[in-house]
Amino acid sequence: MPQFKGNDLYIEQVKLSDIAKKYKTSTYVYSKSKIVTNFENYKKALVPREGLICFACKTNSNGTILKLLAKLGAGADTTSGGEIYRCLKAGFDPSKIVYAGVGKTAEEIEYALKSRIFMFNVESFEELDAIDRISAKIKVKARIAFRINPHVDPDTHSYIVTGKKGTKFGIPYEEAVKAYLAAKQKKNIEILGIHSHIGSQILDIGSFKLAAQKIKKIVDSVEKNGIKLEYVNFGGGLGIEYKKDQKVPSPEQLMSELFPVFDENKKFIFEPGRSIVANAGHLLTKVIYRKISGGKSFLITDAGMNDLIRPTLYEAYHEILPVKMTDDKKVKTDVVGPICESGDFMGKDRMLPFVEQGGYLLITCAGAYGFAMSSEYNSRPLLAEVLVNDDKTMLIRKRAKYEDLLLNEV
Ligand code: LLP
Repeated sequence: MPQFKGNDLYIEQVKLSDIAKKYKTSTYVYSKSKIVTNFENYKKALVPREGLICFACKTNSNGTILKLLAKLGAGADTTSGGEIYRCLKAGFDPSKIVYAGVGKTAEEIEYALKSRIFMFNVESFEELDAIDRISAKIKVKARIAFRINPHVDPDTHSYIVTGKKGTKFGIPYEEAVKAYLAAKQKKNIEILGIHSHIGSQILDIGSFKLAAQKIKKIVDSVEKNGIKLEYVNFGGGLGIEYKKDQKVPSPEQLMSELFPVFDENKKFIFEPGRSIVANAGHLLTKVIYRKISGGKSFLITDAGMNDLIRPTLYEAYHEILPVKMTDDKKVKTDVVGPICESGDFMGKDRMLPFVEQGGYLLITCAGAYGFAMSSEYNSRPLLAEVLVNDDKTMLIRKRAKYEDLLLNEV
């Protein structure tokens, strides 16, 4: 997390106010060392078993960050042809790319096969047929795991629960064995493993363990039918500390609970996203105006819901810090953006100094699903991104210009 030194907030060895002056606002700012540490924690935890840590690049697909993770030996969890493209461009070894998603199109499947990705996490019987058909057409055998919906309901926001009965994801638990038997009949399919992902921002290891126990039952039934499953993939989902005092399990705690559920020869894949980049990235924004209206205080920032949609979409909490500590009294205030919607807020009822006009705020832990979910809504050009390495900063995405808004219009 960024730290105060004296009255100034720093990320690594750089003053955030200096970044704001140099690169303007709003800007996403990432700490390189935090990304590295977060990834290394997963890598270390996996040491007792063979397998892969595949970074879920939907959380943050900036090429420099992808390149960094690829160099550290990460694989990639992808969810579209576009993500596979970005990962290949960033130097990921195709044999470390896995591909999940309920709606893979024929074009995407063909692109993935031609790119020789490691495996598809197949989510329906019809998708299996499509992959088999396309594999035959282009004469490339497809390696697959089935994504099984384990019917587990973890404690997280309902929009990011994915392994519960009745959600669109994966093959229903009861039909898992049938899916493997169907795949066994297909000439162009090679079965490698089993996949499940129960949701995101999960802090209770118990839910993962329950899913693991259910998945183990499927593994046993499938293997009794003479189908060997080499890989067990648990998806991502480990949460982070958005609010002080949230108890966050480590990758090591997670894996040490899951490994013993399975035989020693099983290889493991994890697809962490949020827990690699969320607390490494923050949204640096400027207070444009202040106002008091209807008895409430508002700080109006140049970042809006188009730049960071999480508070609006999931009522997600992001700690907001002033970039300069002052002696000003803290007041209860809403931090809101400039967009024409009442849902456009970064935080509500926060105790903050009534930061001066032109002062800066940091919306913390926005490195995952932050820039990646941003849009040009209200015709607002996409933001700049900056990577901090010790006392150096590097622009890793230019701020878009007004002309860019019209780029693809005909
Ligand atoms: N693997 C699969 C198959 C997934 O669907 C996801 C996330 C992940 C891995 C990565 O999960 P993570 O480690 O990041 O929790 N936009 C929402 C989160 C959506 C999660 C979707 N799936 C948010 O901002 O909270």
